[in-house]
Parts: sequence; C-alpha cells; structure tokens
Amino acid sequence: MLTFGLVALILVAAGLVYQLRPKPIQRVRGPPSPSFLLGHEHAISSQNEVGDLEFEWLRTYGPTWRIRGEFGASPATPSIHVLMTADPKALQHIYHKSGYNYTKRRSVIVMAEIMAGPGIAVALGKDHQRHRKIMNPAFSAAHLRTFLPLFQRIGAKMVEQWKTDLSGAERMIILVNKWLSCATMDIIGEAAFDYQYGALDKGAGSPIMKAYDNLFSDPNKPSATVALFRAMWNYIPIPVLRLFRLIPAEPFMRLRNLRGLFTEYGKQILREQRADTDMEKESKSKDVMSLLIKANSSADPQTHLSEAEIIAEMFSLTLAGHETTGSTLTFLTYELAKHPDYQARMRKEIQDRRAFVMSRGDTSFNTEDLDSLTLTMNAIKETLRFHPIVTYLPRVATKDDVIPLAYPIISTTGEIISEISVRAGQVIFPSFMAYQRLKDVWGEDADVWNPDRWLRPEIGKQTKLGVFANLMSFSAGVQACIGWKFSLIEMQALLTEILENFELSLPEEKLTIRRVPAAGFGMIPMVEGREDLGTAMPLQVSLVQQ
Ligand code: HEM
Ligand SMILES: *[C@@H]1O[C@H](CO)[C@@H](O)[C@H](O)[C@H]1NC(C)=O
Ligand SMILES: *[C@@H]1O[C@H](CO)[C@@H](O)[C@H](O)[C@H]1NC(C)=O
Repeated sequence: MLTFGLVALILVAAGLVYQLRPKPIQRVRGPPSPSFLLGHEHAISSQNEVGDLEFEWLRTYGPTWRIRGEFGASPATPSIHVLMTADPKALQHIYHKSGYNYTKRRSVIVMAEIMAGPGIAVALGKDHQRHRKIMNPAFSAAHLRTFLPLFQRIGAKMVEQWKTDLSGAERMIILVNKWLSCATMDIIGEAAFDYQYGALDKGAGSPIMKAYDNLFSDPNKPSATVALFRAMWNYIPIPVLRLFRLIPAEPFMRLRNLRGLFTEYGKQILREQRADTDMEKESKSKDVMSLLIKANSSADPQTHLSEAEIIAEMFSLTLAGHETTGSTLTFLTYELAKHPDYQARMRKEIQDRRAFVMSRGDTSFNTEDLDSLTLTMNAIKETLRFHPIVTYLPRVATKDDVIPLAYPIISTTGEIISEISVRAGQVIFPSFMAYQRLKDVWGEDADVWNPDRWLRPEIGKQTKLGVFANLMSFSAGVQACIGWKFSLIEMQALLTEILENFELSLPEEKLTIRRVPAAGFGMIPMVEGREDLGTAMPLQVSLVQQ
C-alpha cells in the first residue's frame, strides 16, 4: 500500500507538470472533476443507473465533452483529460478509418489476458490480424447457419423446463436473466468447443461451470481502492503486470483456478482432435475449436496458433459470447413485458410464419424464415440500441492526430470546434450509450424503446458505423465483435422458441429495475432494494393460449 501511495504521488506530480502545458483538448468543455485522484472514471462505474451521467453531459455539452481520468495524471498520457464522445464522425474516424492506430487501453488488455490468456481479445496489430484470419471462417454466414439447430435445441430445452416448473399453474415468476444466461452458456460451450457446460442442468458434472459461476458471484460495486488499483494498470509495463495474476488474493485466485481447468480441458481436446486428424478420419465436428485445429495443420504459418492461444480462444469465446447475448436478451424480454402490444404483434408474425413452414412440410425455421420476422429483428435492433451491454470502450491514440466532428461543439472560450487535435497517448472514451441516444440520428423519440422506429426509412442510415444497423453495440472496425452475426441468429432462435410458447409480463408487485454499471464499462439489471439478489430480472410468464 505504501509503494502504491508513492507511485500515485509521483504520477500526480508528473500530471501537474503536464497540466501546465496548454493542450487543444483543454478547449473542450466538460464537467468539473469530482475527485482529483479518481477523476470521473470511478463516478461513471459507480453511478446509480448507467447513462445518468453520460446523458446529462450530452445535454449540457453536446455529443463531445471532456472528463478527468483516474489519478488525474499519467506519464504515458500527455493529457490529464479523457475525451468522451458520442459523435458519429469521431467514432467513424477512431474505429473505422484509423485501423489499429487507436488501440485498446492497457488495463483492459491486461485484465483480458489475466482472465482469458493470449487470445484474440488481447492480441494487437499484426498479431491480432492473424487471430482474426484464423477465426473468421468459423463465423462466416455459411458456417453460422450450421449452428441454428443447436440454438433451437437449447431454446426448446429451456422452454420445456419452464413448462415443467409451471406444473399446471397459470403463471409463475422467473428470474429470466438466469435462464437466458444458462441457455447462452450451453450454446457457446457446444458451439465454441463442443463442451457441455450443463448450465441448464444446474451445472451438473461440469467443474468449469462451477468455477465460472463462482468467479462472478461478487456483484459489489467497485470500491475506490479497486478502481485506483485498476487505474494503475495503465502505467505499469505489461511484463510486470503479467505477474499480477500470481497475487494470492481474490479474484486472482479464483481466476487462476478457472484458467487451470480451461487449460486442462483444452489440452485434452487438443490430444483427442489431433488423434482424429492423425487417423485421417473426417471430423464431423463443426465447433470453432475443431476448425482452428484443422486450420493449424495447413502449411501457411499465417494460420497457426500456439497451444496456449487456442486454449485462450475457448475461454475468450465463452467470456465474450455468453453474458453479452444473455443480457441483451434479458433486456429484450423485459421490454416485451412492458410492451404487450408489440409482443402480441411479434408473436402473431412468428405464428404466421410457423403455419407457412408447416405447409411447406418443414418442422423448424431456417435462417431465411428467421430473417423474414421483421418485428423480431426490429426488437433486437432496438434493444441493442437502447440497452448496449458494453456502454463504452476506451481507446488510446498511438500517434498525434486530428479527430473530426459531425456535430461541432462550443469551446471553453466560446469558439466553435469541429476538429479536435489529440496527442499520442490521449485516452478516449467513445460512448456507445450516448451515441445511440442522439436525436439527430435516431429521431426525437430516441429516449424511448420503440422498435417501430426501424420501419422509418431514414433511421440508422445517416452514418456508416459499426458492423450492424449503424449501431456501436458490437463495437466497430478491425477489432469489432467477431460474434455479432452468431449472436443475432442465436437471439432470433431463442426468441421464437420463447414467444411461441410463453407470454411475458411484469410481475404484479411493482418493481423498479436499475441498469447497474458492472465490470467497468458493462451493465447488469438489478431490482431496486433487492440488490442482494445480484443480477436479477424477475418476469412473469404464462403459457400462450392456443
Ligand atoms: C449481443 C451480444 C454481443 C455483444 C453486445 C458483443 C459486443 C462486443 C464488443 C463491444 C466487442 C469489442 C470488445 C473490445 O473491443 O474490447 C466484442 C468483441 C468480441 N466478441 Fe462480442 N458481443 C456479443 C456477442 C458475441 C458472441 C455470441 C461471440 C462469440 C460467439 C462474441 C465474440 C467476441 C470476440 C471473440 C470478440 C473479440 C474480437 C476481437 O478482438 O477481434 N461476441 N463483442
Ligand atoms: C496509422 O498511423 C501510421 C503512422 O502515422 C500511418 O502511416 C497509417 O496510415 C495509419 N493507419 C491508418 C489506417 O490510418
Ligand atoms: C500449430 O502449428 C504450429 C506449427 O506447426 C505448432 O508449433 C503449434 O504447436 C500448433 N498448435 C497447436 C494447437 O497444435
């Protein structure tokens, strides 16, 4: 703690020196800092409801503003300020036009590496390109189609369990987030590496599932000490940071245990799969891991991954693909419970398509059927817009640059700014949450959940941004989500299963759901006054009357 204080002090002193130099970013207006050491970062990750601060700043300063970073200073950063922006042109510049020139923040990379190992989310530049090149075929449209039966099987399994739990009663209240989290976990296990997490079966027989559950069992807000500790990661060389994983304290010990299990299991798969390849048996496996292992036997060194990297990919896919999809669906079902009319229209569209599929002689939807369900797709788009699970993603400029703005802002001295010059090392928080509420982009009713906005021809067409529907929810550019299409089909499939069988409504007892900041820039639903439940979304379900 003493060294920690000393380091903090030196950094603060260094910051003061820097502060004396005039910087263009200082001309951007922003809120006064609540704390010199913690800046606004801690305030953002501990606000009552995600978006409260961002929306207030958006109203006050326009789509681009300046906040103060943690520590108030950093030798790695020429500015004690963090640029926060929801401006579509700025986002386009940072994510799309600059390639790897705006990089991930060190604390984020190190956290990802400590958690998942040297996988795709940690790799940068050329190394990252190699990971993407090897992973991409597994996420092609053609290959993703082969996962649909898996999505439908797990969806049907979940719905059957609801029916069993209902045991003749007219309705019941469920924690829908828990169910969706289990379903998406089982799906990613099988799709990524043919592993049965057994989450829907209460984790029966899966040590990895148990260890994983324990990892996130601590829903507490980040304390100020933890926030500072994490902030320090941005200023320590990466090789030193790697040693952090040896710290004999939680959550590092739990993490080590979990990664140990993943490695053990990964090595076992690798042995089995290699034996398969040796026997020249055409492996039937469609999971991502099998494809990676097959790719590795080719001659092209560009398609090689080390054992540690392949194992890290398994865990990265689990971490990236599970709670993100589960939470998005959780908020989607919540909105459907709040909007019974829309839910009824959506169900009608699904039922009509079902009749068509039956008349065709088929029993299940194919991807074309799912894509024809416009109301379902619009509900998915609207939920991604309104409830972006990743609310912002820090980026760091690797060189001096000028960031253009679509919506000029007023400077501290009253001039109009339409370009901001930044120095190498400048930290930027692109706010997906605020971008997706811009009235100029999404319409005057941007602050309400209204899937029918997607029927308006002009919506989402103004700026070319992101990988899907001009949304930033999956991030954008070279390091965007690789699983966005996977997750769309997964959500389509699970929603049709749910809506054909169940009606969703709010519990009679009036509860307030809060979107609580989690893990830095994520968010989870919690029941006001029942924070002891942790992540919770109680909904009432009843069988659809045939
Ligand atoms: C609604 C669901 C999802 C959301 C909102 C989401 C969001 C994101 C975001 C914002 C990133 C960028 C992270 C960063 O730059 O640090 C990302 C990356 C990633 N996502 Fe997703 N994701 C979703 C579902 C999935 C699924 C289902 C998978 C896997 C099947 C997946 C796999 C990944 C991977 C591997 C990366 C790292 C990509 C890279 O660094 O090149 N995601 N996701
Ligand atoms: C990134 O920066 C380098 C060095 O300034 C530059 O040559 C390159 O064109 C930039 N890349 C992109 C995609 O803008
Ligand atoms: C992939 O191939 C390379 C080069 O042949 C090898 O060093 C590496 O161990 C292989 N990785 C796996 C996971 O088999």
